[in-house]
Amino acid sequence: MKPEPALPRIVRRRSRVHGYGVFAAERIRKDARIIDYAGELIPNDASEAREERYLAEGCIWVFRVNRAWSRDANVGGNIARFINHSCAPNCWFEVVDKTIWIRARRDIRRGEELTYDYSIDGERTIPCRCRPGCRNKI
Ligand SMILES: C[S@@+](CC[C@H](N)C(=O)[O-])C[C@H]1O[C@@H](n2cnc3c(N)ncnc32)[C@H](O)[C@@H]1O
Ligand SMILES: [Zn+2]
Repeated sequence: MKPEPALPRIVRRRSRVHGYGVFAAERIRKDARIIDYAGELIPNDASEAREERYLAEGCIWVFRVNRAWSRDANVGGNIARFINHSCAPNCWFEVVDKTIWIRARRDIRRGEELTYDYSIDGERTIPCRCRPGCRNKI
């Protein structure tokens, strides 16, 4: 079997968008897998209560995997939980079985902050700060 390519190096630092963000520590090629969004796998009917509790603190940690399952990055999450949202992101996500892969949407330079579109289903309450003047909510 072909060995899996090594994942690119990424680091957590303070972000201009919000709190901490995740940054490329080396150049990342378009479409490369960067990291999987880790977190406890929970059925969707159990996720709503957690989502509401986290949202009351201004935080989105629960990622909808599919119609049945979500991942709660507040429990067992990795550095991917610090990736911020952007309306013009440089990453995208791909769900493979129940794994959420964060992948590069284009070539990413070393030092760039990684972002993806959170694609929130429910009510959007948090004003987006992805760029000056963004009027969207996440
Ligand atoms: C998964 S966390 C990302 C890490 C977060 N920056 C931190 O330091 O904990 C998601 C939270 O980050 C904030 N956030 C992420 N992207 C944002 C954006 N574009 N504009 C405003 N807040 C954002 C929101 O509070 C959101 O609930
Ligand atoms: Zn925005």
